[in-house]
Amino acid sequence: MSFAIDTQSPFLLYSRQTKGIFIKPEPDGGAGADGDGSAAPGGAGVRKGLTDMEIITSVKGFKDILPQETGKWQYVEEMARKIFTDFGFREIRIPILEKTELFKRGIGEATDIVEKEMYTFLDRGGEYLTLRPEATASVIRAYLEHSIYAADPVVRLFTIGPMFRRERPQKGRYRQFHQINAELLGLDDPRIDAEIILMLIHFLKSVGLADLRLEINSLGCRQCRPAFKESLIGLLQGKEDGLCGDCQRRLTTNPIRVFDCKMEQCGRIIAQAPRLLDFICSTCRDHFERVKGSLNAFELSFEVNTRMVRGLDYYTKTAFEVTTEFLGAQNAIAGGGRYDRLVKDLGGPDIAGVGFAIGFERLISILPAKNEEFLVTPQLFIAALGSQAQKTAFVLGNRLRMMGVRTEMDYTGKSLKGQMKRADRLKSRYTLILGDRELAEKRAELRDMEKGTQETLSLNTLKEAIIKTLRER
Ligand code: HAM
Repeated sequence: MSFAIDTQSPFLLYSRQTKGIFIKPEPDGGAGADGDGSAAPGGAGVRKGLTDMEIITSVKGFKDILPQETGKWQYVEEMARKIFTDFGFREIRIPILEKTELFKRGIGEATDIVEKEMYTFLDRGGEYLTLRPEATASVIRAYLEHSIYAADPVVRLFTIGPMFRRERPQKGRYRQFHQINAELLGLDDPRIDAEIILMLIHFLKSVGLADLRLEINSLGCRQCRPAFKESLIGLLQGKEDGLCGDCQRRLTTNPIRVFDCKMEQCGRIIAQAPRLLDFICSTCRDHFERVKGSLNAFELSFEVNTRMVRGLDYYTKTAFEVTTEFLGAQNAIAGGGRYDRLVKDLGGPDIAGVGFAIGFERLISILPAKNEEFLVTPQLFIAALGSQAQKTAFVLGNRLRMMGVRTEMDYTGKSLKGQMKRADRLKSRYTLILGDRELAEKRAELRDMEKGTQETLSLNTLKEAIIKTLRER
């Protein structure tokens, strides 16, 4: 297999010489990959089309959401909009591109996301821009930029959309994925932490998820964390040789991030690490106890996971994750926590915040409902035969659509049998049969595709009769 690379092109063009077959990308790290697991452009491989022209496939880790899947997505979005609105949240829509500085300052320079996973590029104007890896920093940026806090610092905002992280793709982990985000600003009351967790669990259960596991922890604040950091460094120093390269580096840049490491060798050492919870100050402890009290008041079961530190630097006090055993290795369906310093760190006033994000793809993958349950099928198919009937059908069909009837018809001059077959394939509820003879006799036949029955309708009152039949069903 050979590659011809057009280095003159503004986009590198890779053309593979193999004909007529689907070429799978090389396994991660193999020949043809760029060394860090990504294959040549066209991440799903390069495919020959029906002509000699290659089909351009999607980028590795970027997924299409196909029409048969979007019904489920819309259902989940509608439920989120309804439930979040009931809890006082309003939608905010933010850009997917931000200045790189926002995430460096917001998420933390020495996090995996900022160090390794961001899609960052130098814009033609000479500015570094980044496809957002998460939404919290952007929501705060908008909250500050538009002085939303000036009218009332207490604001509940939600946003739904794509995020971008250049992680190694696998089941449940993509490079473009979607999140449903909720952020509550302006209140540092521990009841609010519990309230937002309640909303999250209520939403996940409402869309049909069961067997959810809620884990919580307290990450302390800037007053109590230095003592923990010192103790952690004390444990890790002298054990550097047993740590992976990343953790050796983290030891000097951001020791707490060793808890994010998935390497077995580091896991063995980290297992002996002190618990952050043993170092938190009385204010943080009291906050944590009151969060737990409120969760109990809501009868929400939870576990305290003292090892959970989350992968973003902005958290203070409460952190939480919702996991499910149905997801395999990537088992976190949602995560969040309190971030009482973030607004200030991004240049704003001293305003507390708490929020979470749900992984949309992960939620969809374990939703018990089937795609077919959300399939939207035509209510009416107009099978027209003969030139005059086709003209009438064209106008009638579009009028019915404007009256709210999901209508399909034939534009290719198929035989009646062919049109009926198509109506069947589309799962149309009714078919209106209209031939030139019926037209001359000012009538049409309405066929109930489920029952197999047929009735004659007068052309003069056709639209009204169709709408009445659909309503009565
Ligand atoms: P996060 O834990 O990085 O938190 O992401 C939240 C959720 O997004 C994860 O639990 C997971 O379901 C999903 N997710 C993350 N990365 C991927 C991926 N590569 N592919 C598929 N799904 C993924 C945040 O992003 C914080 N901003 C949450 C937050 C909001 N904290 C406070 N407010």
